[in-house]
Amino acid sequence: MKAIVYTEYGSPDVLHLAEVAKPAPQDNEVLICVHATPVGFGDLLARDFKSVTPRKFNMPFFFWLPARIAFGVNKPKKNILGSEFAGEVEAVGAAVTRFKKGDQVFGYRGQNMGAYAEYVCMSEDGVLAIKPANLTYEEAATVPYGALTALSLLRKVNLKRGQKVLINGASGGIGAAAVQLSKYFGPEVTGVCSTPRVEFVKALGAGKVIDYTQEDFTRNGETYDLIFDILGKSSLARGKKSLKPNGHYLFASFKMKQLAQMVWTKMTGGPQVICALSSEKAEDLTFIKKLIEAGQYKAIIDRRYPLAQTAEAHRYVETGRKTGSVVMTM
Ligand SMILES: NC(=O)c1ccc[n+]([C@@H]2O[C@H](COP(=O)([O-])OP(=O)(O)OC[C@H]3O[C@@H](n4cnc5c(N)ncnc54)[C@H](OP(=O)(O)O)[C@@H]3O)[C@@H](O)[C@H]2O)c1
Repeated sequence: MKAIVYTEYGSPDVLHLAEVAKPAPQDNEVLICVHATPVGFGDLLARDFKSVTPRKFNMPFFFWLPARIAFGVNKPKKNILGSEFAGEVEAVGAAVTRFKKGDQVFGYRGQNMGAYAEYVCMSEDGVLAIKPANLTYEEAATVPYGALTALSLLRKVNLKRGQKVLINGASGGIGAAAVQLSKYFGPEVTGVCSTPRVEFVKALGAGKVIDYTQEDFTRNGETYDLIFDILGKSSLARGKKSLKPNGHYLFASFKMKQLAQMVWTKMTGGPQVICALSSEKAEDLTFIKKLIEAGQYKAIIDRRYPLAQTAEAHRYVETGRKTGSVVMTM
């Protein structure tokens, strides 16, 4: 089968189209013919992990070291990127009961990666679900990472109607999902992003959008029940006054400082800091599928590239100009 392979860390130039062995499903696995796979945050990170120093890594050092070892110290251990995909089940192992040949599915492979390829095998108990009927393969492939991460993290707080939520980093993979899911759970949503993506974040359903190049959300006098900071660009010191007395400051990216603040705010009461890692589950993907089919969650694609032009797709994402997802098609 054809796949995009990389054997050394580096710029998008390290990504090459190659012929590799087609995987064969074990008894509990399904073989999926991949139709589409997007460029995710994790793909950029894993492609050039050697240049990601502990300082550049958006997590504490004790997460960086195992990640560096897991990805490969000097060269990548896994040679095919791609954490998300949508495609069609081509064959199933003898023990598989949940899926059958011909099923249209979408799924998430996390750090196992491997979706930049014509075929992948997934355990039937993996993060795999039937594709939403109203999405194309391309749209469906872009959903799992952002939606599963945002859903898992938003479940750390109890969102309800009447509340106000601010998403800092609302135009990216996790943020775009967080805007839509927060709105679904009931609160009024404010998104924060830069000028070129203001209309995009409005289109996702944010009631208000703050352009961080024009306005500092910590200085406008508004208060929120939840500030969800995706990249950790804001800080408790500045943002505290924008939180309601029982509000939460949820960090998807955090360092030791935010972990210490989490412990401190738990001990002292008042607004709480939460630093959490997401856990991705198949049942959550099925939940997202239902939201999509009910018209309450959408996938917006910026650009499509053929698989052979994956390096080009990475270059485009690295310009920082994307508005929505960038997806490769087979
Ligand atoms: N906790 C967990 O379990 C978990 C899981 C996965 C990932 N993560 C973390 O999540 C992060 C990646 O998130 P992602 O995939 O959503 O990234 P992404 O797609 O690259 O999006 C990041 C967004 O942040 C916005 N941004 C940049 N500078 C900003 C600023 N100064 N103020 C406000 N927003 C700003 C950008 O908006 P503009 O383009 O409009 O500037 C961009 O859309 C990583 O740090 C990763 O470590 C955490």
